[in-house]
Amino acid sequence: NGESSLSITVVGASGDLAKKKIFPALFALFYEGCLPKHFTIFGYARSKMTDEELRKMISGTLTCRIDQRENCEDKIDNFLKKCFYHAGQYNSEADFKQLDAKLKTHEGGRVANRLFYLSIPPNIFIDVARCASSSASSEQGWTRVIVEKPFGRDSASSAELTKGLKQFLAEEQIYRIDHYLGKELVENLSVLRFSNLVFEPLWSRQYIRNVQFLFSEDFGTEGRGGYFDGYGIIRDIMQNHLLQMLAIFAMEPPVSLDAEDIRNEKVKVLRSMRTLNLEDVVIGQYKSHVRGGVRYPGYTDDKTVPPNSITPTFAAAALFIDNARWDGVPFLMKAGKALNNRRTEIRVQFRHVPGNLYKRSFGTDLDQATNELVIRVQPDEAIYLKINNKIPGLGMRLDRSNLNLLYADRYSREIPDAYERLLLDAIEGERRLFIRSDELDAAWAIFTPLLQELETRRVSPELYPYGSRGPVGAHYLAAKYNVRWGDLN
Ligand code: BG6
Repeated sequence: NGESSLSITVVGASGDLAKKKIFPALFALFYEGCLPKHFTIFGYARSKMTDEELRKMISGTLTCRIDQRENCEDKIDNFLKKCFYHAGQYNSEADFKQLDAKLKTHEGGRVANRLFYLSIPPNIFIDVARCASSSASSEQGWTRVIVEKPFGRDSASSAELTKGLKQFLAEEQIYRIDHYLGKELVENLSVLRFSNLVFEPLWSRQYIRNVQFLFSEDFGTEGRGGYFDGYGIIRDIMQNHLLQMLAIFAMEPPVSLDAEDIRNEKVKVLRSMRTLNLEDVVIGQYKSHVRGGVRYPGYTDDKTVPPNSITPTFAAAALFIDNARWDGVPFLMKAGKALNNRRTEIRVQFRHVPGNLYKRSFGTDLDQATNELVIRVQPDEAIYLKINNKIPGLGMRLDRSNLNLLYADRYSREIPDAYERLLLDAIEGERRLFIRSDELDAAWAIFTPLLQELETRRVSPELYPYGSRGPVGAHYLAAKYNVRWGDLN
């Protein structure tokens, strides 16, 4: 309805995520004309700040990245005029009542929809949910709340959080973000599978040898150690970002594109997965390293990390899906900070061609000559397929070449940030890319026994130098399942 209004409150407005991602994404949506005519944005946090100070704080992060030419400065000014600030405690209904009064003035008597983005630590999610729902929820329109991980540390604490939130909000009002689901190539994963005849028929144990989900960053925790140390890489990246990609990769075709149909399939495949145990995992932690005269700090050199921390900054794991489609196929994951590059990709290694007529024509190892499909989520988004091809000439020699879809060559449009897509979906009530509570339970069930074992046994991580390829243990883990990591070839 063109005449309703939208109020977005960013709770925890002075935090890093709000500054770096949420305000810029909201501006991008405004810039693209995706926000309704009547909208207001409020920052909410404990510290005192004026509206002007909030505007100043966020203005530096707003960019007209899509189209540099057109009235960028004007658009920024117009956007900032819609941004306000309210200081309040996170557990005070009275403070949220005051926010409510301010929101009402801006809403001007229109039907108002209200979106709260909880950009705050999870220990105050429930307080804010209580105050927002009792004192600042919409009277005639909808009220939705976006929350972001960590959703607990294990099955029990996650269930407790879910229960706490559900005292004040219906499941339909809770939008659990995993920002990887908002990435262009992750969204495209289903398109690739279900709208091309050539892939889906091969998508099973019959043709696929293994699948790899690889995440690497070329920087360490750098000051974020306070949060990270309590969680570690398995909870920070694997249990959510990589597992979400795996679920979409491996799920059965959904009945429709409806959010419930898709999430039903994701839950099913997650529930078919084996729980992880120690033998399936290698953990590592980066140590300082001097390269080119520069000393790169180790994880425990980070001032925000306890000096004797054994929190993993790297992990490799082998997961299995015990269903008819994937029985016996290793799904390998590898995630690490302070490695030699920043990249996220999915690699699908296919089986050998049975009775390959050309096996003698490969100069190298036949094992290297199987097809591999690579979906590079970031950077330089791409999908490419390694095929065997005859080297032109009179002889019969084959090599491996790429059928290449490089997004930068193929599409001139810029790829939107994950948060733009997800915020727009939340505003539109599209829940496909958000995590349902049963999905979250299933995800924790796979990792919780392992996480507990690592902690009770105080398993020491294998140290690896900052900027390296990670611990060699990962190599042995893959070898155990007859797998070669695709990113090391
Ligand atoms: C976050 C993690 O969820 O994802 C961070 O907490 C990580 O540790 C980040 O750096 C990576 O996101 P992206 O979009 O930069 O790949």
